[in-house]
Amino acid sequence: MIRVLLIGDTMARAGRRVQEERLHDLRAQRDIDFVVSNIENAAAGFSITPRIAVDLIAAGVDVMTSGNHIFDKKEILDYIDQEPRLLRPANYPSGVPGRGRWVGKVKGIPIAVINLQGRVFMPPSDDPFRAADAQLAALVPAVKVILVDMHAETTSEKVAMGRYLDGRVSVVVGTHTHVQTADEQILPGGTGYITDLGMTGPHDGVIGMRTEIVIERFLRGISLKFEPSEGEIKLNGLIVDIDEETGHALRVERVSLSHS
Ligand SMILES: [Fe+2]
Ligand SMILES: [Fe+2]
Repeated sequence: MIRVLLIGDTMARAGRRVQEERLHDLRAQRDIDFVVSNIENAAAGFSITPRIAVDLIAAGVDVMTSGNHIFDKKEILDYIDQEPRLLRPANYPSGVPGRGRWVGKVKGIPIAVINLQGRVFMPPSDDPFRAADAQLAALVPAVKVILVDMHAETTSEKVAMGRYLDGRVSVVVGTHTHVQTADEQILPGGTGYITDLGMTGPHDGVIGMRTEIVIERFLRGISLKFEPSEGEIKLNGLIVDIDEETGHALRVERVSLSHS
């Protein structure tokens, strides 16, 4: 059995700090073998820097996934080609820097992480469903443990991806909305699933940003620069136990840890 923890969108300093201060203990206490963290908002809400990536790996993150904010920092265009543990969605057009799949081993067992991005109410990208087929076809049969981060806005597109990949991957987790859903489950074919992991960061604002700035936008259309909020820090994610022989999920557990 392999136990993995998938962490929802790492938001700004607060989201990094909770992982730096809690992840090593959590890994030890819960016998977690492998950690995937979505980092698209790690640098003040927008992308990540090489320095932050190094710090998160030191904190206990094995692979970083992302989404629509990944290229908000231009230094990532070069860095992502040098750091295979930092993914961007696999269904970006060919020629875009970086890659959407990581393959390695944990406890000697092959494991793959695939990052996808939805198309409904999201920036344009290629079809994530056919991209998922292509990513799976590229894996050798020995890789049974497969983790998928489907970064998307709508519930239906994420549920559809879960059903589409049911029985073919170990778990499909949604990211991007920053609000954790309570629908964690194991689908009929054996794939673990949750529509959204939620956000690792400050929960006192509006999906990670300071309340008054966001309300000002809605109320008067005045677009002041977003600033991350800072209170009610939580680590949001999902723990999944996976049978390495079949690749099926055995158990899923939603995680929402408060941190001060
Ligand atoms: Fe996000
Ligand atoms: Fe996003």
